[in-house]
Amino acid sequence: MNYMSKKTIEDIDVNGKRVLVRCDFNVPLNDGVITDDKRIRESIPTIQYLADHGAAVILCSHLGRPKDEESKKKCTLAPVAKRLSELMGREVKFTTDIIGEEAHAMAAALKPGELLVIENVRFFKEETKNDPDFAKALASLADIYVNDAFGTAHRAHASTAGVADYLPVVCGYLIRKEITVMGGALADPKRPFVAILGGAKVSDKIGVITNLIDKVDTLIIGGAMAYTFHMARGLTIGDSKVELDKVELAKDILAKAEQKGVRFLLPVDTMAADAFDVNANTKVFEGPIDDGWMGLDIGPKTSALFAEAVRDAGTVIWNGPMGVSEMPPFAKGTIAVAQAIAESGAISIIGGGDSAAAVEQLGFADKMTHISTGGGASLEFLEGLELPGIACLNDK
Ligand code: 3PG
Repeated sequence: MNYMSKKTIEDIDVNGKRVLVRCDFNVPLNDGVITDDKRIRESIPTIQYLADHGAAVILCSHLGRPKDEESKKKCTLAPVAKRLSELMGREVKFTTDIIGEEAHAMAAALKPGELLVIENVRFFKEETKNDPDFAKALASLADIYVNDAFGTAHRAHASTAGVADYLPVVCGYLIRKEITVMGGALADPKRPFVAILGGAKVSDKIGVITNLIDKVDTLIIGGAMAYTFHMARGLTIGDSKVELDKVELAKDILAKAEQKGVRFLLPVDTMAADAFDVNANTKVFEGPIDDGWMGLDIGPKTSALFAEAVRDAGTVIWNGPMGVSEMPPFAKGTIAVAQAIAESGAISIIGGGDSAAAVEQLGFADKMTHISTGGGASLEFLEGLELPGIACLNDK
């Protein structure tokens, strides 16, 4: 798929039109309070553009994975509409309706430049089933559909893809930014091109490793995933997490990297603990890890090695923490990598999810070229998969 051939909001006349915008407003909430509004902030350029160009803007999204009436209460988009209004300094109307009479009446009454948020589309089970009648009903709220929900673009749901069967469909600025930066890095990276992959499981990252091994100069593996690779190299790993059924796969990856001349860096030392506990005793092991100890972070020599590999990089893509970064004693490796990337001068792309959260919390966000708003979506994009929410966009 040629991403650059997809139409954006600038390729369509929105003046006087009702525009349905799918955002990813799936933000973290604590007792109804939004704890990170990045996804809302990142949606604003598109909303602002549409309002400034005379569109009546109807915004929809999912929030969480509501299953029953009780969980629906916690998944209302009301706090999102309120925060959007605060951030934009203008009125944002809200309806608890989605495709019923009230939503239709409010959408029809919207004047150019006005904004309306409708309730969580996942309150209908038809949403995730990509039910055509539900998609058609959503589409009937508007004249044009804009998808700007990069974080949900890997889902073929009614509001992310199904609606496109009934309306002209273009993307907003957030999707354009995500696919331009990440797509550009994958297609024509400034070299050396370094990928850093962390997290718990090889099985979660195998698609990304397979896609990137053909493109990168250096592949760095951290996180619990590294212990499966240690085992593949014949090292003992003590009580560390491992996927025994992925050891052969890890061997194949190591062989492929060697055959392709990719520099493949694994931890040379490990910060281990005698329990999975923030107060556990800790010990650094170089190479093999003794029984009774589990690796929970990369060690100091590894931090230095990974930082050195990043220093001269032209492009760095990072997805997944180096250790149990939510526990301070085991966050040092993740911090070291974040700092090395921030100081590197490379084009730096941070996949969403945990690594994005780490970079934001550590205060390095403004040093990065791009922090993706997608968790699963950015992973699938880096795997080279076609995302339904992008595939459905009209071509120029
Ligand atoms: C995300 O947070 O990754 C997206 O909003 C998608 O949410 P989902 O995994 O519930 O589809």
